[in-house]
Amino acid sequence: MRRAKRIRTLCGELLSCKSFADVGCDHGYCTQYMLERELCGSAVFSDISAASLAKAERLLEPYVRAGRARGVCCAGLEQVPRDTEQVLIAGMGGDEIADILAAGFLPPVLVLQPMRNTRRVREFLLANGYAVTRDYTFRDGKFYDILRGERGTADAERQGRERAYGEKELAFGYDNVHAPTADFAAWLENEIQKCARRIAAARRGVPLLDERLKLLREVYDETLRHLR
Ligand SMILES: C[S@@+](CC[C@H](N)C(=O)[O-])C[C@H]1O[C@@H](n2cnc3c(N)ncnc32)[C@H](O)[C@@H]1O
Repeated sequence: MRRAKRIRTLCGELLSCKSFADVGCDHGYCTQYMLERELCGSAVFSDISAASLAKAERLLEPYVRAGRARGVCCAGLEQVPRDTEQVLIAGMGGDEIADILAAGFLPPVLVLQPMRNTRRVREFLLANGYAVTRDYTFRDGKFYDILRGERGTADAERQGRERAYGEKELAFGYDNVHAPTADFAAWLENEIQKCARRIAAARRGVPLLDERLKLLREVYDETLRHLR
């Protein structure tokens, strides 16, 4: 399976629930993971593309036949039941994820893997009463961010208070800042190199890039201290 670690990591952040939806499911691997381990009672898998949905329908055919899963071809959450307990949206841009949620509904648990603009997703979750209970970067060839948002329980409220977001957490992710991994250190090294190359190519001072490089180096030094 392509990017097997990415799929495993996504699945590892999903919680056991009554009802699960995988929005933009494509192949349907995450829904298969939930159903075959009995981690959800029922599942809806959706995709805006009929061809992508057909892949998931083939993979999940035994569960569809048994009445435990249903595929829907739609944009975002349009045909996903509003009482779904946990929703996964992975492999789309951060703006698209936030727009899908804003136009749809806000389930108790969200697992999100934006491909870019993760900050927008963090801000969206926090502005909508979610505790961001997981927020870190991992590497599977490329670098990926993954977030879990939870709301509406005493435990979520407690975690929301404990995991307060300031500027650094919004920019880099709570777990990356407070419990960094070697994957996050590698992401920082990569960003430092990219930023330094852009500064060199500009051949004149670019204050915004200089500031970013300074911040990246600062966070990198803190990360190395944590990892030692
Ligand atoms: C890169 S794939 C990711 C597939 C899977 N979620 C994963 O993480 O491996 C993105 C999928 O989202 C679907 N998609 C894109 N925009 C969508 C939208 N607004 N609503 C539903 N599905 C969408 C695409 O058709 C595609 O199958």
